[in-house]
Amino acid sequence: MSVIDDIKARLDIVDIVSAYTPLKKAGRNYKALCPFHGEKTPSFVVFPDRQSWRCFGACNEGGDIFGFVMKAEGWDFPETLRVLAERAGVELRPQTPEENIRHNTEERLLALLDGAAQLFTQHLLESPDAEAVRAYVTRRGLNETTIRQFNIGYAPDSWHFALNHFRLEGYREEELLEAGLAIRNETGRVYDRFRHRLMIPIRDGRGRTLGFGARALADDQQPKYLNSPQGPLFNKSNLLYGLDLARRAIRESETVVIVEGYMDVIQAHQAGYTNVVAQMGTALTPTQVQQVAKYANRLILALDSDAAGVNATMRGLKVTRDSLVEAEPEGLDARGMMSQAGKLQLDIRVLQLPSGKDPDEFIRANPEQWPEVVNQARPLVDYVIEIGTRHLPPNADIYARERVARDLLPLLTATESDLQRNDNIQRLAVRLHIPERDLLNWVHAAGGKKSAPLSAHRPQPKGAGKGSNAIGMPRRNGHLNQPGAALERYCLSMLLQAPDRLFQANRKLRELAAQEERASAALLPLNQEDFSREDYRALFRLINEALNQDEYEPNEFIEECVPQELKGTVEEIQPHPLEIFRQKASNLHLAELQSVMKDLSRFNGEAELQSVELFRCVFELRQQRLKREMSDFYFFEREAQLDSEDTLVVDYSIIKAHSLAIHLLERAHHELVHQRQEN
Ligand code: UTP
Ligand code: MN
Repeated sequence: MSVIDDIKARLDIVDIVSAYTPLKKAGRNYKALCPFHGEKTPSFVVFPDRQSWRCFGACNEGGDIFGFVMKAEGWDFPETLRVLAERAGVELRPQTPEENIRHNTEERLLALLDGAAQLFTQHLLESPDAEAVRAYVTRRGLNETTIRQFNIGYAPDSWHFALNHFRLEGYREEELLEAGLAIRNETGRVYDRFRHRLMIPIRDGRGRTLGFGARALADDQQPKYLNSPQGPLFNKSNLLYGLDLARRAIRESETVVIVEGYMDVIQAHQAGYTNVVAQMGTALTPTQVQQVAKYANRLILALDSDAAGVNATMRGLKVTRDSLVEAEPEGLDARGMMSQAGKLQLDIRVLQLPSGKDPDEFIRANPEQWPEVVNQARPLVDYVIEIGTRHLPPNADIYARERVARDLLPLLTATESDLQRNDNIQRLAVRLHIPERDLLNWVHAAGGKKSAPLSAHRPQPKGAGKGSNAIGMPRRNGHLNQPGAALERYCLSMLLQAPDRLFQANRKLRELAAQEERASAALLPLNQEDFSREDYRALFRLINEALNQDEYEPNEFIEECVPQELKGTVEEIQPHPLEIFRQKASNLHLAELQSVMKDLSRFNGEAELQSVELFRCVFELRQQRLKREMSDFYFFEREAQLDSEDTLVVDYSIIKAHSLAIHLLERAHHELVHQRQEN
């Protein structure tokens, strides 16, 4: 299995996409406002079965999880691969020379960021113009040891402080921009991003400074915290503030306390409570939870008690449950793990401070009471039931209560032990006055198995049952057998062997288009949309590039230029005669099979035969794509009809072109196969 498949098997496109645009369930699929173009009615659909997405609106594009992230983040394929690999916990191969260059660039940026942290701290501690800021820090109760430990600093009220300093040290302007320390405005002027702010370096678990949270010091400064821009290096949702300093205490106490803000962490650590980290004001992400689940079995969420905080908590909780399932290490049976009490099972609790106080204020006022409130954190279940039911009036009718029950059950039955699960259901039954038996029935109906996690409530890929692990988590390792993927691979293998044949194949498509004007829109030359996977698309683009240059032989060009990331894919694609046989035999009739056998016996033989074989495949490939698009389209149309909010402007000429083209392709395909049998 290539790393790409491995990554795809471990990540769920629904999770990834929903981080960019809220998804709404629509039948087996999900729809959303397209994150790539402004729109008022949703024309963007995610297909979990196929792990693909498509925008039927202005973009009229689709792809897989890689294509989505590339487009959403503006990254190239290698970058996307790196990020998704990390997210999936998949290790990539050693680096190529180009990657080494990139690596060195990264090293320089890291050194720059670290240097900046040191510079700002030194300025805070020593400079005369930092007098008022030193007073501010003291007023907030922070001592010098803490300042040094967290590398807190001061960026003075200047447009060029950091800029000048690091230019002298030999950094280029571009590097300062890329590190997020400087900004370039429309007129091209470059200046310091952080001016007159308290600088809080944000480090990853290894202690490398990746960015800054910069607190306003004057009343009229907005925003309160100016953070480094999101980028490949600094991604707030992958980081937990304070983790580098907290890891040891988390491991020792097997408990992690997650707070909202920088100041909460700093204050807690100064008071000696060093197992505290911050999620930095956003909802907790799976990556964040996974980082601490390695060390802790108890996770305490100390979140603000205001309404926004509660909502964030609820969002956080859902994520927490999901990520527990995702965090399951390779080869371990999650169910077995769960039953090993106190091992990897996370005991999640919620800590509510007296209203109006954040941990920073609480600890400053009553440092010695902190352990006590942490101990009093309530089990997640109680909290979930309380928050989930508190909007219900005392005399709520059964429908309202049932709705609440159905919302809460997935959370309450996600990953607990049987004992806990039954206990949770019992508590909910009591709270809602709904018989336990009914609740159990709903759980069974929704998830199939009583131990099904949240993810099982999503539509599962076809055939997931067989590949599921003990807790019913769908394992998408059917990628290689994913409908159509074999054909895509086979086509690519032929093109890799003889890239020039792409011209011939495209000519065949042109000939077909000439037969029927109205089908021509669906008979354009082979292009990346004919392939459903982003790695296959990338290879196809490379083949095209090879054909569009004349410095090297196309084959050589491909060999030279195939990026490290795609080497696994290329290897996987290399045709093995037996594999080809299997691919072809899978959907052929006996008569066709005989002709395939004949072909195989002279596999390395006549070029002409191989061209014909390529045409056959290209015809089939295009048909496959058009059918896929049609069924997506029908799905979308049906949903739009059901959902009266949405109006849909259907371009029926496209549908017409698709169906005509499918017909033509089918006929041409048939003729080819027939011809060959006669030979
Ligand atoms: P808070 O507003 O609670 O700030 O935001 P705080 O941490 O208590 O800071 P002080 O005590 O007012 O100085 C909580 C966290 O949300 C993020 C920061 O990570 C902050 O620590 N945040 C908040 C931002 O990123 N930007 C903002 O403008 C505000
Ligand atoms: Mn605060």
